[in-house]
Amino acid sequence: MHFDPRLLADARHVVVFTGAGVSAESGIATFRDKLTGLWERFDPAQLASAEGFRRDPALIWGWYEMRRAGIADARPNPAHLAIAELATRVPQLTLITQNVDDLHERAGSHDVIHLHGRLDAARCLACARSVSSALALPEGARDGKRIEPPRCAECDGPLRPGVVWFGESLPEQALSRAFLAAAECDLLLSVGTSGVVQPAALIPGVALEAGARVVHINPQVSGSGHAREFAIAGKAGEVLPRLLSEAFA
Ligand code: OAD
Repeated sequence: MHFDPRLLADARHVVVFTGAGVSAESGIATFRDKLTGLWERFDPAQLASAEGFRRDPALIWGWYEMRRAGIADARPNPAHLAIAELATRVPQLTLITQNVDDLHERAGSHDVIHLHGRLDAARCLACARSVSSALALPEGARDGKRIEPPRCAECDGPLRPGVVWFGESLPEQALSRAFLAAAECDLLLSVGTSGVVQPAALIPGVALEAGARVVHINPQVSGSGHAREFAIAGKAGEVLPRLLSEAFA
């Protein structure tokens, strides 16, 4: 069904829910796209689990440092910029992301809810102390080689990436804020996510059930066919700027 851009201009509380697809046009690989997706090329059981880290911390730390270096080299794209601008156009906007990059922040978005943690927020595997300031990228980080994780200043345990791995709980406060916003919004834009990783994948459905309109922006059209659910097929960096210029013309 066609989404009328005026519905965006009239919305009071917009939730923008993003996945890896929003950063794809910045050159950051998604997880499940054929050929280019990280989980098409790497084994998530090894690289995204606490067991994998315990087995070979240097392999895992080196892989995440390579991804962190890729993000440091990347720039926000027109989709990130359009979302930051949208926040200045509507009465209330809540930005929920599954991404572990900081491209939304670097585009000018504030108070971003990171459901899956952040690559630049390491913490100690042993005592859970977090290292708040981003660590300097070590020599060779871009090569994806093995790098021994730095040690915790408090207990000398190994630092681990500050991301949520399979089998781990999502940060409680981020999760409850996200579900509350989804239940309270009147429009939710779901941008660049395959919608398969739980519990994040429940968020568009929570908004729909609470009476909001839900718009999926993705080159792969999706949606359940609900009367208040829409799909705009295309790349986020093209669709979002166009949607904004039509809504606020
Ligand atoms: P996926 O890789 O599963 O899905 C990316 C989605 O983006 C797909 O539906 C693509 O069709 C779409 N896409 C690709 N290019 C796009 C573009 N230019 N514009 C818009 N959409 C585009 O990524 P996520 O749904 O984010 O978890 O994956 C969810 C979680 O799975 C991630 O947060 C990660 C992963 O395991 C953790 O890191 C904990």
